[in-house]
Amino acid sequence: MEPFAYIQNRLHCEGVPLARIAEQFGTPAYVYSRAAILENFSRIQSGLAGIPSLVCYSVKANSNLKILRLLAQAGAGFDIVSGGELARVGRAGADPGRMVFSGVGKTAEEIDAALASGLLMFNVESEGELEVIEARAAAAGTTAPIAIRVNPDVEAETHPYISTGRFIHKFGVPKSSALALYRRAAASKSLRARGIACHIGSQILKVEPFLKALDEILEVVKRLEQQGIQWLDLGGGYGIRYGDEEPLDMDRLIAELKRRVAGTPYRLILEPGRAIVGNAGILLTRVLYVKATEQKNFVVVDSGMNDLLRPALYGSEHQVWPVERRAGPSAPADVVGPLCETGDFLARDRRLAPLQPGDLLAIMTAGAYGFVLSSNYNSRPRPAEVLVSASETLLIRSRERLDDLMSAEHL
Ligand code: LLP
Repeated sequence: MEPFAYIQNRLHCEGVPLARIAEQFGTPAYVYSRAAILENFSRIQSGLAGIPSLVCYSVKANSNLKILRLLAQAGAGFDIVSGGELARVGRAGADPGRMVFSGVGKTAEEIDAALASGLLMFNVESEGELEVIEARAAAAGTTAPIAIRVNPDVEAETHPYISTGRFIHKFGVPKSSALALYRRAAASKSLRARGIACHIGSQILKVEPFLKALDEILEVVKRLEQQGIQWLDLGGGYGIRYGDEEPLDMDRLIAELKRRVAGTPYRLILEPGRAIVGNAGILLTRVLYVKATEQKNFVVVDSGMNDLLRPALYGSEHQVWPVERRAGPSAPADVVGPLCETGDFLARDRRLAPLQPGDLLAIMTAGAYGFVLSSNYNSRPRPAEVLVSASETLLIRSRERLDDLMSAEHL
């Protein structure tokens, strides 16, 4: 489905005109399509049918409680990276037994909380962390389920900030150390190896790096036959289309993964984040001013880098669609926010049809790493979040109030 489409030149989310959402909830606002989220999830889940598997939605991509609940009800497991995400998944009513805990810096408190929740496994990223998990499990009189996150040294061919699977990156341990850590786990009463994990990066558009990574972890696992490993966790990173790039061929990837895993005793975990929520959300913003200088046209909108950081941080290009499509000659312009930073742009050098103050724009493909990376910089309240389902709209996060911004401060 196309979650965002024009009907008589007016942009809709499912059956609801975005102009109506702007009127009702104000701008800036993140708007998500429920049907698109569920369709993205079920395409991956049903693709994997036939081999034992679990799709663990990566909470960091979009952690709104309502979205987590939606996915939990659809049968998703979860990939978390903090005590905060653990609390969210619990609040959403998800089954912790379908949850993996990744991240290079888990604290003792986070480990205790995850152990108490009964998680599926910790994806362990260093020897030091394994020691702390062992000690906390021993203190709690329990056994910690673990996987070692192997760094497969595979080139993901993506933006350097979101590439994780080479030896220069902080994530995981090399294959050689993984074997020693599994030996150590086997010798401990407080640890139980349940799986092996890797994650090579994000927004990866080619199938091959994932297959290489899977081959690498299969090779490690073959050398660990006695250790009771059940789960092969391949991480996330499945690339989507933002502009005119060819998106990852997810169907081919899944078919290839199934071919490799079928006939082995292992079960597969995937941790997609962006591929589930990315194209299901937009950032809805209103034009404040149109400003032309001799060199450049600027469209100043009521949303900026504090609401959507990706253009400033990664130079990522989100399409900009007018909420009302009008005829007229287009001209190149930068879409910029109100913050006092030169990096405060949402789009640069785009050909846009004529715009006036009051017009609405949709910053497309903002459902993943949009709201979650937002901040209060320049003391700006964060946007509302709205979920659309057919012709209904549901406010799933209120716009922050100025009081919220100052509520933890003391004079
Ligand atoms: N699993 C692990 C261990 C991860 O570190 C990540 C993402 C995922 C799964 C989900 O990756 P996805 O399927 O969403 O690509 N802020 C950046 C992306 C950072 C990704 C971090 N790790 C962006 O806006 O592009």
